[in-house]
Amino acid sequence: MATLTDDIRTSAAQFREFGACERPPRDEDPALIARIRAQVDRWGERLVILAHHYQRKEVVPFGNFIGDSYYLSKMAAQQEKAEHIVFCGVHFMAESARILCRPEQHVYLPNLRAGCPMADMADDVQVDDAWEWLGGFLDTETVIPVSYMNSAANLKAFTGANGGLICTSSNADKAFAWAFERGEKVFFFPDEHLGTNTANKMGIARDRRAIYDPLHAPDDPGPYERAQVILWKGFCHVHTNFTVAHIESARRDYPGIKIVVHPECTEDVVNAADACGSTAFIDKYVKAQPAGSIIAIGTEINLTSRLADEHPDKTIFELSGQNCPLCVNMFRTTLEDLASCLEHLGDRGHDKQIFVRPDVARDAKLALNRMLELK
Ligand code: 13P
Ligand code: SF4
Repeated sequence: MATLTDDIRTSAAQFREFGACERPPRDEDPALIARIRAQVDRWGERLVILAHHYQRKEVVPFGNFIGDSYYLSKMAAQQEKAEHIVFCGVHFMAESARILCRPEQHVYLPNLRAGCPMADMADDVQVDDAWEWLGGFLDTETVIPVSYMNSAANLKAFTGANGGLICTSSNADKAFAWAFERGEKVFFFPDEHLGTNTANKMGIARDRRAIYDPLHAPDDPGPYERAQVILWKGFCHVHTNFTVAHIESARRDYPGIKIVVHPECTEDVVNAADACGSTAFIDKYVKAQPAGSIIAIGTEINLTSRLADEHPDKTIFELSGQNCPLCVNMFRTTLEDLASCLEHLGDRGHDKQIFVRPDVARDAKLALNRMLELK
């Protein structure tokens, strides 16, 4: 799995390569497209391709289902006829699909280097340490773990085994409400910003929140004893690049502009925007704006750029205007990766297949199903 440093280095290189990244390069090689189409035809209903909104523009059209991480996990759980589920997204998404689908189905991630640096900001040892430390002065029976979908399967299993649930950016408030019906405190990891934005939305007082930094474990239990929500200090390096200055400058340059951002952005950005929500929410928000609207989007560049293509009657651009909000991990999956993954479906020892240990899958599924059952 690529490290955060790898990621930042690749990001920087890509930024130099294609400047402000308004239009990430597109690979439309007809030979590759023909190879993929041949496999799609060959497998028919026995194959389902899931594509996240941040995938490259040339990959997205091959998705039988295109959406946010919540929708795609639901689709993975509902496939009756598919023998093979190919997830064009990042590792935690394919792992969740593996956990939610039937045991005899096979799940693949066409490029295994597509990870999520934010998900990697919490590992099982760190979370166990935090839980043990909290248990030194709190009754952890009253603390409900809520883990963001962007986390490894073993953390989802920790959450399931400890009476908690998973959430995505589209249902974090419902997940927090579910947790507060069952306990006094929420322990949320790994995205501090989604946690903060959710606490704001739910009106949780600032002095009832505490940040847990796994790299500088706290020694004073006081703030954690008082807290209603304990937030892991993790972040998405793509979304934390958007600033209030970007919003002010967009509003100055384009009076009447609408600004929509993802809840992995910092709270000041979310508060200054007109709307905030998951990638599916952003897609719907843009569709709902009347022709002639000007919209700046604070999320990953491939979604923004695709929305600009799909809505030529609106002026759509990426909010920062200068940085490159590219998720290099989402960008890793190329048409070549997809073609080669599909051409080997059914092979013994397919090297892009995703496996999750059965005991981990069992507990993680508890936590994922609690999310899918949220009303
Ligand atoms: P969504 O659940 O909104 O698709 O977000 C996934 C993600 O990784 C955002 O960075
Ligand atoms: Fe992870 Fe951020 Fe990429 Fe989403 S955009 S997959 S949170 S690194």
